[in-house]
Amino acid sequence: MKALIALALFSQLLSCKAVPHGPFPPLVYRVLDCDDPETEEAAAEAVNYINTHHQKGYKYALNRIEKVRVLPRRPFGEIFVLELDLLETTCHVVNPLPLENCTVRAFTDHAVEGDCDVKLVKVDGIFSVSSARCHSSPDSAEDIVRVCPDCPLLAPLNDTRVAHAVALALAQFNSDGPGPYIKLLEIARAQRQVNHLPDSVSVEFAVAATNCSAQDAKNHLEDCETLTGEQTVSVYWPLLIPVKSKK
Ligand SMILES: *[C@@H]1O[C@H](CO)[C@@H](O)[C@H](O)[C@H]1NC(C)=O
Ligand SMILES: *[C@@H]1O[C@H](CO)[C@@H](O)[C@H](O)[C@H]1NC(C)=O
Ligand SMILES: *[C@@H]1O[C@H](CO)[C@@H](O)[C@H](O)[C@H]1NC(C)=O
Repeated sequence: MKALIALALFSQLLSCKAVPHGPFPPLVYRVLDCDDPETEEAAAEAVNYINTHHQKGYKYALNRIEKVRVLPRRPFGEIFVLELDLLETTCHVVNPLPLENCTVRAFTDHAVEGDCDVKLVKVDGIFSVSSARCHSSPDSAEDIVRVCPDCPLLAPLNDTRVAHAVALALAQFNSDGPGPYIKLLEIARAQRQVNHLPDSVSVEFAVAATNCSAQDAKNHLEDCETLTGEQTVSVYWPLLIPVKSKK
């Protein structure tokens, strides 16, 4: 009996369900399938919202619509509640490339997945997001190692080697260029290189131009402000940096 219940639950998890709302007996308001164009429109709006409202990390692409629920809204319109499964792309959120042009990060790069619960309001045919909650987590390291023992796994962003590698790269860039002084926005990703270069990390980080020259920055770094608006120059670099072991 237990097995039967488990099986029933499992098959429910596997199929995308348009979930009727309310207590028993269910008061079915309007049932939509996950592959309905209207559901897909809501999901596209949700993904766009998520990508424009997170300040860190990478843009997400839609992998799967897990659930959809439509409820009436007072005094008018409808509420859509979506459960979405998202995949990390290689476009950082500061990258101006549209999502359509971003590639989904390969499994072998130790990608991150996002699970999001999003609530949208639809009034006069227009969707707007009223809330979005996401939880992201990297794929299991064991799964990756099983398929690809040499693949670089994610390293913690606060690893001292990572901070060191980024500081070196920034210092070099700022000493070379005649351009404005650039400031670190975020270390977005770090991976340990396992086999090719022992004790090295690859880092990806986002920077922005400031209103200072290198000389200004030397004299009064605290006064250097990140440029915003049309002047923003956000650069995003993947770099492979060998770091000597301290051992
Ligand atoms: C994005 O891709 C489309 C179609 O492949 C292409 O026409 C467009 O130029 C690309 N945009 C950018 C900014 O690369
Ligand atoms: C990095 O962060 C983790 C979790 O926040 C913490 O446990 C660890 O001590 C930190 N490591 C360093 C080198 O700061
Ligand atoms: C950069 O902007 C800040 C804030 O507006 C200002 O205090 C500072 O003097 C500016 N620095 C330079 C070099 O223009």
